[in-house]
Amino acid sequence: MCRPTAAVLAVLIACIWSGPGLCEQRSQQLNTRPIIGVLAQENLSDDKFARGSSYIAASYVKYIESAGARVVPVRINRTEEEYVEIFNSINGLLLPGGDVDIQTSQFSRAAKIFYNLALRANDDGDYFPIWGTCQGFQQLSVFTANKNLLTLTDTKAVALPLKLTQGAQSSRLFRSFPKDLLQSLADENITSNFHSWSLSMQNFSRNAKLRRFYKVLSTNSDGKKEFISTMEAYKYPFYAVQWHPEKSPFEWIDKPGMVHSVNAVRASFHTANFFVSEAMKNQHYFSSPAEEERALIYNFLPVYRGINTVFVQNYYFD
Ligand SMILES: *[C@@H]1O[C@H](CO)[C@@H](O)[C@H](O)[C@H]1NC(C)=O
Ligand SMILES: *[C@@H]1O[C@H](CO)[C@@H](O)[C@H](O)[C@H]1NC(C)=O
Ligand SMILES: *[C@@H]1O[C@H](CO)[C@@H](O)[C@H](O)[C@H]1NC(C)=O
Ligand SMILES: *[C@@H]1O[C@H](CO)[C@@H](O)[C@H](O)[C@H]1NC(C)=O
Repeated sequence: MCRPTAAVLAVLIACIWSGPGLCEQRSQQLNTRPIIGVLAQENLSDDKFARGSSYIAASYVKYIESAGARVVPVRINRTEEEYVEIFNSINGLLLPGGDVDIQTSQFSRAAKIFYNLALRANDDGDYFPIWGTCQGFQQLSVFTANKNLLTLTDTKAVALPLKLTQGAQSSRLFRSFPKDLLQSLADENITSNFHSWSLSMQNFSRNAKLRRFYKVLSTNSDGKKEFISTMEAYKYPFYAVQWHPEKSPFEWIDKPGMVHSVNAVRASFHTANFFVSEAMKNQHYFSSPAEEERALIYNFLPVYRGINTVFVQNYYFD
C-alpha cells in the first residue's frame, strides 16, 4: 500500500540525499489520495428528518466523491485544538450552502478557525484550498471583509447564465474548463441560484479588503442589483460560487432553478474536478490509517428525506 506517510518520507529522504532543488520539485508531487473536509451546520429547526443537532447535505459529499476525493465530515461545536488536528489531516475544505447565521452560528465559528489556519498555512507555503458554495461564498466574504456586506436580492429559485468577466478566461478555475463548456455557462441558464442574500458589485468595489483579495470571475443580476456569482482569491487557493454546482447532478426537488441538462452536469463536475485537483497539491495526512478510517464519512449513513425535499439525503450528527 502506498500510504501518504510513505510518500512524505520518500520526499524527505530525497531532500536529504539530493539537496533543496529536487526537494522542491518532489514536494510538488500530487497527492492522489486527497481527503476533503465538508463542514456541517446547525440543523434546520423545521427539519422533521433531523437526527441530531447538525447535518451535511449528501449532495456535497457525492459532488466531492464524483471527482476522486474522499470526504471527512467536520462537525460543529468542537474545540479549536480538534479543528487544528483535522486541518493538519485534510487536504482542502468545502463550506456548503445552507441557512445558518454566518456571524453567530457554530458553522461560522468553525469556518473562521479553518479560514485563519488556511491563510497562515498558505502564507507558509503549505497549499490548502477552500471552496465556498452559496452560504459558503457569503461566509468567505464576511471573513475577508471582516463584516457582512450582503444585500437582499430576488434570486431564490432561478437558473442563470454566468456573465463572465474579462478575467474569467485567465482565471485558475475557468482556465481548466473545456472551451465549449465555458461558452455554455455564458449562454445557457444552467447555474442554480437559491439565495436571498448576495454580494453586490457595488459593495464589493467599495471595499478595499474584498477588492484586493478576490478576482471576480462572473456576475449576475436579479434585474436590479448586479452581484458576484463566481470569484477566486488572487493569492490564495480560495474559490467561491454563489450558485450551486452540486445540485444539478445530485438534487431532484421539482422547482424552478433546478437544471439537469448535460452541460449543467458537466459544469458541476468540472468545478469539483478543479477543486479536487487543488487539494491534490496539499500533503496533509492523518496521524495513522486507523485515525483516517475513523474520520471518513463512510462511518455515517445518509437519511433519505423524500423525493421532493430540498436535500434528498442528509447526514446527521449529534
Ligand atoms: C434540531 O435543531 C433544533 C434547534 O434548531 C432543535 O430544537 C432540535 O431538537 C434539533 N433536532 C434534533 C433531532 O436534534
Ligand atoms: C458547544 O455548544 C454548547 C451549547 O450550545 C456551548 O455551551 C459550548 O460552548 C459549545 N462548545 C464549543 C467548543 O463551541
Ligand atoms: C452594502 O452593505 C450594507 C451592509 O453594510 C447593506 O446594508 C447594503 O444593502 C449593501 N448595499 C448593496 C447595494 O449591496
Ligand atoms: C435565464 O436568465 C435570464 C438572465 O440572463 C433571466 O432573465 C431569465 O429569467 C432566465 N430564464 C429562466 C427560465 O430561468
